[in-house]
Amino acid sequence: MFVHRRRGWEIPENRVTPEHIFHQRRALAKTLAAGPILAAAAPLLGAGRAFAASDPSAGLYPVERNPKYTVDRALTPERIATTYNNFYEFGSSKQISPAAQRLETRPWVVEIGGAVEKPMKIDIDALLKKMPLEERVYAHRCVEAWSMVVPWSGFPLKALVDFARPLGSAKYLVMQTFKNPKVAPGQRQIWYPWPYTEGLTMFEAVNELSFMVTGLYGKPVPKQNGAPLRLAVPWKYGFKHVKSIVRFEFTDKRPVSFWEKLQAKEYGFWANVNPEVAHPRWSQASERDIGTGERIPTKPWNGYGDYVAAMYANLKGEVLFR
Ligand code: MTE
Repeated sequence: MFVHRRRGWEIPENRVTPEHIFHQRRALAKTLAAGPILAAAAPLLGAGRAFAASDPSAGLYPVERNPKYTVDRALTPERIATTYNNFYEFGSSKQISPAAQRLETRPWVVEIGGAVEKPMKIDIDALLKKMPLEERVYAHRCVEAWSMVVPWSGFPLKALVDFARPLGSAKYLVMQTFKNPKVAPGQRQIWYPWPYTEGLTMFEAVNELSFMVTGLYGKPVPKQNGAPLRLAVPWKYGFKHVKSIVRFEFTDKRPVSFWEKLQAKEYGFWANVNPEVAHPRWSQASERDIGTGERIPTKPWNGYGDYVAAMYANLKGEVLFR
């Protein structure tokens, strides 16, 4: 007999505060508490909206929210999630969104290669038409011990894997960001191993939580958050969530990712969230919610253990939580 066991974060939809109500309730508190941040962000919001309206995919959003994926915490206000970012191609501060507006996201061609039946190149808008779009609310936990809760739009990575038709020899899926030092000043810093590269095992890639993000808050995903295509794997630290992807490569070789190349002792391949395994330089026991400002305990697997822990049960000798 099939018995549905409710997972920790599977809660009634109405427990996630709708964004507009959340905004009304918190507007005053936020203005008072984060005045300088919001004041600085105001011109950027204008730029972001203009971008959303001119994006050829704008008409696709909002897409229907999948009620299965939600989080028992308030949504992070859009203006915070879109102005507090990590995107080293555009600088090492959190305020990279003005610089990121220089990225041209059309035309945007995605290459699929390596161990596949037939390598291909596909335009992002053609790809979007083929993929089953939906919205999911996920918790997003950065290795730096801050977090947010955001409504991503996009499609399951499994749909892209099926579309790519990998060969049986494929064990990993490698994803790469664009490389264009003319528009991305960070890429002129040649000591970084550009392009930004990340990878998943095929098991992880087809896990139901692995999600290709194309939208955010019911609009095309802003450039600073990884337009037009970025990864969300919510049980892993945020550095696995590679932004502005141009290439998917199926391979039998485990890739060495961007941060792993720079500092393997601190940032590994697996990067699964675990409050009990400290980063070499700070504790991972708790995190600061960048929306509410509250410090909250970090959950094992970022709260998604029921979906993912079994994938790692037999992996002996691997450093899974860094
Ligand atoms: N992808 C690229 N190409 N470059 C980056 O610097 N930073 C990562 C990840 N993806 C990064 C990237 C890190 S460290 C985090 S925490 C998340 O993006 C941040 O995503 P957000 O800005 O949408 O919150």
